[in-house]
Amino acid sequence: MPQSEISGQSYHEATKHSYLSVQLDPNYVDASTQPSAFKVYPKFYRRLQLNSNNPTHAFISLSSAITFEKVYKDGPYKLRVNPSAGALYPTEVYVQMRGVEGFINGIYHLEVENNCLTLIYELIDDGLESYIIPGKCINGFIFLTSCVYYRSSWKYQNRSARYCFLDSGHHLGAIAASAYLHEKNTQLIFDFDKLSLNADLGFENKEFITGCVISGEAQAKKVRRLRLKVPFVCGTDYFEPNQFIEDVYQATSLQPSRQQQLKHPQFNFEQDKFLEAVWNRRSIRRFQKQSISQESYWRILQAIQQPIATENFEEIEIYAVVHRVEGISPGLYQGTNLIKAGKFSEKTGYLCINQAIAKDSAVTLFFVSAYTNYQTALQIAGFIGQRVYLFSNYWGIHCSGIGAYYDDETQEFLGTNKAVLYAMTIGI
Ligand SMILES: Cc1cc2nc3c(=O)[nH]c(=O)nc-3n(C[C@H](O)[C@H](O)[C@H](O)COP(=O)(O)O)c2cc1C
Repeated sequence: MPQSEISGQSYHEATKHSYLSVQLDPNYVDASTQPSAFKVYPKFYRRLQLNSNNPTHAFISLSSAITFEKVYKDGPYKLRVNPSAGALYPTEVYVQMRGVEGFINGIYHLEVENNCLTLIYELIDDGLESYIIPGKCINGFIFLTSCVYYRSSWKYQNRSARYCFLDSGHHLGAIAASAYLHEKNTQLIFDFDKLSLNADLGFENKEFITGCVISGEAQAKKVRRLRLKVPFVCGTDYFEPNQFIEDVYQATSLQPSRQQQLKHPQFNFEQDKFLEAVWNRRSIRRFQKQSISQESYWRILQAIQQPIATENFEEIEIYAVVHRVEGISPGLYQGTNLIKAGKFSEKTGYLCINQAIAKDSAVTLFFVSAYTNYQTALQIAGFIGQRVYLFSNYWGIHCSGIGAYYDDETQEFLGTNKAVLYAMTIGI
């Protein structure tokens, strides 16, 4: 069977963790061999330093900013507004700007390490629209997220396919959060001609486009495909191919996602406090096993379930294992419905490969889906995951994503045959 006809489901099955698989392959790597986590175009490209006093600069910069730095023996750690499995940061961001004051119409790479934009392509009568929304021209911004997959497959091998797409969803969530703070409209797009775009942006087999955020005014107008190819620049200092990841990507890029009507979320966060949450967002490493209030819990749960502004959608169902929420009986819930009463903190700790955060949290969440498009579903899960981080941090509650769990045993515990795409913990 051609690779493109194998469904996302079989790729998901092929990367399941079990008690045995984790014993046999615990993913140890020599940290000194980690590929570089920052892409830098050659120095002859024109660059623009981003300045936080300029609102357009701040909007772009906050989508990917470095927010915490620490030096360890293996080198500096640079943590960002977006979380990433293993802090490996496979995702990159490109932004096309057309008719934006102070900018040449063009496609820019966001150089996160140096907080600058690199102009990699100047527009004439061409642009990204023709690959994404043919027949339209966007005055404003078109963000693209991509994955330099080797940064993640270096450690997580085939399972990194999941992490690349989850990380990408988180990054889209970080772009949406910055847009919210800068009062910009957004629409996410997952179904478009990613494969032609990869070829024209010169990504070879080493980087691939995952998602798109449009922020601007659409006008009916034909825009040509890029008249020139962007030269290849490697996003890592060295590279080892992984055929499995390339196949998952290829297959899931050709399959349409489910469709829904476009609906926008309505949030009314305090701007300053929300900016603080974006800027200070971190993954908790250890919980104090304290309870959270029922009010905070419902607020988070309701806010994360607000509409996602996209027509390409995959339904994500959320199971919540409540351990420590004042006034709520411990147990397994689907939304507000209690499915199984009981204290399951030891169980969720075990299911998440004996990670204490899944045991000591107030609530451990599991995201499941009966998706059509696997790539879109994981990105939506990551997008919701970014909301979980930001909204819990906004209301003073800690959070962490969890990508490592025993798949079949988790499914069995939840009593679902839908795929478990992601887990998250919240608490104090
Ligand atoms: C998809 C994904 C999976 C993750 N899985 C785990 C996990 O299994 N265990 C854990 O402790 N942290 C996990 N994390 C959190 C990352 O380790 C964390 O985001 C990274 O170290 C950067 O730190 P920061 O989130 O504080 O910026 C995950 C994060 C993401 C986005």
